[in-house]
Amino acid sequence: MKTDNAIRARKTLKVRVDPQNPLPASKGKDFKKTMEELMELAGQAPFHYESAEPQRSGELKGIEPWRFHALDGESCRNLLKAFNADKPQKAPDGIKQMLAAADGLIITTWLPERTRKLSRKFHPNLKNMEHIAATGAAIQNLLLAATSRGINAYWSSGGIMRKPKVLEFMGIPSHEILLGAIFFFPDEIPETAQTKTGKNADKRGEAGDYMDWIEM
Ligand SMILES: Cc1cc2nc3c(=O)[nH]c(=O)nc-3n(C[C@H](O)[C@H](O)[C@H](O)COP(=O)(O)O)c2cc1C
Repeated sequence: MKTDNAIRARKTLKVRVDPQNPLPASKGKDFKKTMEELMELAGQAPFHYESAEPQRSGELKGIEPWRFHALDGESCRNLLKAFNADKPQKAPDGIKQMLAAADGLIITTWLPERTRKLSRKFHPNLKNMEHIAATGAAIQNLLLAATSRGINAYWSSGGIMRKPKVLEFMGIPSHEILLGAIFFFPDEIPETAQTKTGKNADKRGEAGDYMDWIEM
């Protein structure tokens, strides 16, 4: 797909099913490979500053400011099972319904500049702003690459998955900050599922509403 076409074709689709009756993961084992391709393409985004050094052994060591933590369909269902049992804490229905439908989920975080205290709070300085911007660009790459492969996707803030307890439960280092939980949904949606498009999708204005020329 041409880049312009992928940009125009990208649209949010949210799919929800009953958390007590999850869908079988519809994409086969190869989907893990596809998700790896998407993350590799996402990682071609521009970035300005190197990330803070890993803080503990075993952490990913890339100098990029983003991190992708991927769950395949089976892991989505296992996370759902934990939430259904209120582990590590009670979760709202919305997130459970999506975990019951998703073929994959990529939890995308960014690494703030190191402060004296290890914390999820970050200073609103230029470096951190640019780390977030770079991670946003990486997520857009991920979404466009998904669109060009015909994969339904949704960029969520993550809701309960942002909670320290839940991140810890998933093994995500405590100093990483979640910027997007990117859900991938099946191509064919069963009748039992509820679907929803993005809430701002129809509110988009004309380019003239957000651009102008500077004449010097
Ligand atoms: C950083 C970020 C976080 C978002 N989080 C949510 C969210 O938690 N819930 C939601 O309904 N939409 C969220 N959205 C918006 C949707 O992903 C979507 O982009 C929007 O509704 C517009 O629809 P479209 O993607 O079809 O253009 C988020 C978007 C961004 C950029």
